[in-house]
Amino acid sequence: PQSPSFDPSIIEYKGFRFLNFKYNEKYIDSLETFETRESDVFVVTYPKSGTVWTQQIVSLICPDEDRTGEELLPNNLRFPWIEFFNEEIDHSSRPSPRFFSSHLPYNLVPNELRKGKGKVIYVSRNPKDVMVSYFHFTYFFKPMGKAKDFSEFMDNFLNGNVPLGSWFDHLRGWYDHRDEFNILFISYEEMIKDLRSVVIKICKFLGKKIENVDIDKIAEEGTFNKMKKNPKANYEWIPADHANKENGSFLRKGTIGDWKNVMTVAQNEKFDQVFQEKMKDLPLKFIWDI
Ligand code: A3P
Repeated sequence: PQSPSFDPSIIEYKGFRFLNFKYNEKYIDSLETFETRESDVFVVTYPKSGTVWTQQIVSLICPDEDRTGEELLPNNLRFPWIEFFNEEIDHSSRPSPRFFSSHLPYNLVPNELRKGKGKVIYVSRNPKDVMVSYFHFTYFFKPMGKAKDFSEFMDNFLNGNVPLGSWFDHLRGWYDHRDEFNILFISYEEMIKDLRSVVIKICKFLGKKIENVDIDKIAEEGTFNKMKKNPKANYEWIPADHANKENGSFLRKGTIGDWKNVMTVAQNEKFDQVFQEKMKDLPLKFIWDI
């Protein structure tokens, strides 16, 4: 058998490290002038920060009349990735409100979005758990290429030498430029600790009247176990040529602090040192354990 090596096909373009998956340079160029709508909702994340979870929560909050049936679509069609080149999806003919997902940095999203036309929900997660989740993900999602071992993956993660680049740059970019966007910041850990409050925050941000939204039902439908059983929400439909399904599942563990099961004391110290250097003046606080 072939020995595993972390060899993802990364394409460097416009200062960003794209994963070579549904990638098309001309299409990326065209995003600059992509026409957004006031009602558009973009869920933006660094990978493994709670994208799919937030997709599900937003869909449950907004099963509007004009979306009848659409909430039944699998999440790749409900929340298509704006950066993926997909000839089957014509965004301009999608009904409003349109939902999008994105891992793009702040400077590569449509100009109009950057001028506040359309809403952004930015989901962050403590980067140690992001890194551990991402490490496992390389064994599940084939285009990523398998990480050789955790220690090497950690070095790559800290250097931004992974698909979608540096976690630090992604977060900093979006946070430092937040005033240019109509943006709500939420965190994975807040969702774990108090999903109801996050549902209320998102409702307010999207202009949904709370009394019209069944918050209890959403908080229940959004639990890890419910979503794990929901094929429309859990990426079960990923074709076998993209996923090593025998190596795990998209909804893997869903907890805070799994990094403690993986990182050594020395690795943790090294991580803290880099984190301090890069993030010391960032006002955002992270939750590292439950
Ligand atoms: P783990 O690998 O730590 O389990 P993304 O959607 O951005 O790729 O993030 C995936 C991570 O979110 C995975 O983390 C996954 O298990 C977790 N996740 C997805 N839905 C969840 C839910 N309802 N509750 C808790 N965690 C969830």
